[in-house]
Amino acid sequence: MDSADFDALEQQARQALPPASWAFCDVGSDDEITAAENAAAWRALRLRPRVLNDISKASTATSVLGQNIAAPILIAPTGRHKLFHRDGERETARGAAKADALYVMATSANVPVEDVAKERKSAPQWFQLYLFPEHREVEVLIDRVAGLGFSALALTVDNQVYGWSPRAARVPHVPVDDIRNVNMPGRPMARTAYDPEYRGKVMFPTTWRDLEWLIKRSPLPVIVKGVLRADDAKRCVEMGAKAVIVSNHGGRHLDTAMPTAAALPEIAAALKGKAEVYVDGGIRRGTDILKALALGARAVLVGRPPIWGLAVNGADGVAAVMNHLRDELLRAMQLSGIASPQDATPDLVKS
Ligand SMILES: Cc1cc2nc3c(=O)[nH]c(=O)nc-3n(C[C@H](O)[C@H](O)[C@H](O)COP(=O)(O)O)c2cc1C
Repeated sequence: MDSADFDALEQQARQALPPASWAFCDVGSDDEITAAENAAAWRALRLRPRVLNDISKASTATSVLGQNIAAPILIAPTGRHKLFHRDGERETARGAAKADALYVMATSANVPVEDVAKERKSAPQWFQLYLFPEHREVEVLIDRVAGLGFSALALTVDNQVYGWSPRAARVPHVPVDDIRNVNMPGRPMARTAYDPEYRGKVMFPTTWRDLEWLIKRSPLPVIVKGVLRADDAKRCVEMGAKAVIVSNHGGRHLDTAMPTAAALPEIAAALKGKAEVYVDGGIRRGTDILKALALGARAVLVGRPPIWGLAVNGADGVAAVMNHLRDELLRAMQLSGIASPQDATPDLVKS
């Protein structure tokens, strides 16, 4: 896949999917300002490459939470994969394994956690958690995923209520049988997060007290996903979180929330030497990834691109997307005089 094909892949996915499934994947909330600005903010940064460094043995290999990974590029948790492929998240997990990429499985998945765990090869898998009000059911689920070898929990905290997407709501609702919350059987699931049934409901009541509870109760390290401010990030880590994900949920909930490229530097500075920082939102190029590393991220996550790959070509499509991003990152590193992700420092970027 060459770089131009990445745009082509997005268009192929749009054509391959029923309009409602495409809308669920693609939209941002309200006026889609944050969704657009996420991507634009990475693009607007300029690199200050170093010259005359030995990059002949450059490698993207790194680690997250002490586990080695081939590249600092993770598959972000995205729900309802049976909208995109008949085998749902199992197929995504196969693709991740083929590309040796870390997959973060979502609570809102349509296949059992056991099926995804079976596909794991050398790359670790993490599990994204939504804190449903029934903590007893959540406890059962987190013990189950820990028993299956998932190695961290990413608690999503940026959508206690869902945002609203007029664009998704305009597309006719087609019932799809397989869209069920199979891992939390007590919880019904609409085809899309932008379902009128969810409007005005607090879906995932999650407060500082709940985070405290989870960190105490979880057998796995807890990562907090959806942080945009240094004060919040510091508080999470002081309470025992091992990492934070700087994220605005791909611009899918609070529109006009700041782009993640703008939020990252203050959070990275606040957590330096204390906890790992990851970032997602609008990352589409190897140069975007290099900029994120330079601004203090240990790794990035990508949400929509692996879904495009899944929709167009199943596991092979997911693997192609992840391999393509890894190739682009390596090239961007080499052209910037960087031999390892750890060598990327803030001076590499000019805003
Ligand atoms: C279709 C879709 C479903 C998503 N579902 C979830 C989810 O269930 N839980 C979650 O924490 N984030 C979810 N996200 C957000 C992603 O984890 C990630 O933050 C975002 O997609 C990153 O932006 P990008 O798509 O521009 O790479 C979803 C995103 C998309 C596109």
